[in-house]
Amino acid sequence: MFIQRTIPPAAAPIHFEDIICGLKGLFLGQKETERFKLSLKEYFGVRHCFLVSSGKAALSIILQALNEICPDKDEVLIPAFTCFSVPSAIVNAGLKVRLCDLRPDTLDFDFEQLPGSIFEAPDSVKPNTRLLAAIPIHLFGIPADISRMRELISNLKITIVEDAAQGMGGKWQKTKLGVLGDVSFFSLGRGKSLSTVEGGIILTDRDDISSHIKNILTRMPSYRFIEKLRLILSSLALSIFLHPVLFWVPKALPFLKLGETIYDPDFNVRPMTSFQAGLARNWRKKLRRSKTERYKCVKVWSTLFQKSKNYGPAGTRNVPGDLNLIRFPVSVCDRKLRDKILDRSEKMGLGIMPGYPDSINRIPELKHQFKGQAFPVAQKLSETLITLPAHSLVSRKDKKRIIEMISDL
Ligand SMILES: Cc1ncc(COP(=O)(O)O)c(C=O)c1O
Repeated sequence: MFIQRTIPPAAAPIHFEDIICGLKGLFLGQKETERFKLSLKEYFGVRHCFLVSSGKAALSIILQALNEICPDKDEVLIPAFTCFSVPSAIVNAGLKVRLCDLRPDTLDFDFEQLPGSIFEAPDSVKPNTRLLAAIPIHLFGIPADISRMRELISNLKITIVEDAAQGMGGKWQKTKLGVLGDVSFFSLGRGKSLSTVEGGIILTDRDDISSHIKNILTRMPSYRFIEKLRLILSSLALSIFLHPVLFWVPKALPFLKLGETIYDPDFNVRPMTSFQAGLARNWRKKLRRSKTERYKCVKVWSTLFQKSKNYGPAGTRNVPGDLNLIRFPVSVCDRKLRDKILDRSEKMGLGIMPGYPDSINRIPELKHQFKGQAFPVAQKLSETLITLPAHSLVSRKDKKRIIEMISDL
């Protein structure tokens, strides 16, 4: 344990005023959740919006709805390197994970390999009839190329579920992330662009998907009193301990499992509470402010790694315009150097973290499904990626310390 200034690897601060709004929301009840929904529909220009307990819950509900529409299809395609919550949600919905490798320079699907996952074989023209949905993911906030995906599957009955869990506030060319898929979702978890402690938003223009989601949600139990109390206490704890001056405290408590990505298909799916909707009352202003701060970090980190031959930009090279990243990914060419950076960062409280611990095909509970398949880029990313903090709590001094540490190594 190091008692010192410690930068959270990812953060969307919750302020005391937000908690007051949350408590007001608790008393207003459904009026507050309806108000939040309406403002989201207006901002994103979509017809249907649903608020749930997490990003995982949002994805699971979307997939259950799609499976009700097409009961004979049960496979869902995702990139082989991503947050473990994604396969957790697929399995929670009773479906099977299908994988495609990525391109290291975009962190998106490798489109050359994609036909192998969409068709029965790479050189076949017969589509895989069991494929229900494909999930392009805006990893760390880097926009995935959904229009290219759409071109590839335009004649096949495969739904594009846009995973914008990490991408709220970002844009692809001039279009907001979150409206590019047939159905999309955001996460409002702790380290995302905007946080309500936990939460998920589903957006769609498709009436058929919307009516199935509506039905599924009516069957879901609400948060219990004790769970609402936990939400209120967590929001208080976050408003105090997320600050770098105090972040060493939660970091020293192993049962909080901060920064861990866990495969767990057994999770609660609930409609969002009016407390969470209240926490998000000033969401547009908060998102705008956090974007400005994130962009400043991204600019500094881009310049830092631009000319060094030891580092490769991971996904950030080919994207035009501002990047609204929740963490800045860089691939380190030398494994020893990567371990040294992570070790020093840990000792100095600099908030640099690995990407995800392994490729999806190597998750112990899933690996039997992928025998004989290899996803070398995904595996390499799990071994070489580091991510730098890109949020409003990274001060100018913090940036200087990180630059000095990286330059020193
Ligand atoms: C890409 C991606 N999808 C889905 C999720 C699930 O979101 P939540 O943590 O709100 O369940 C996450 C969470 O980190 C994520 O990173």
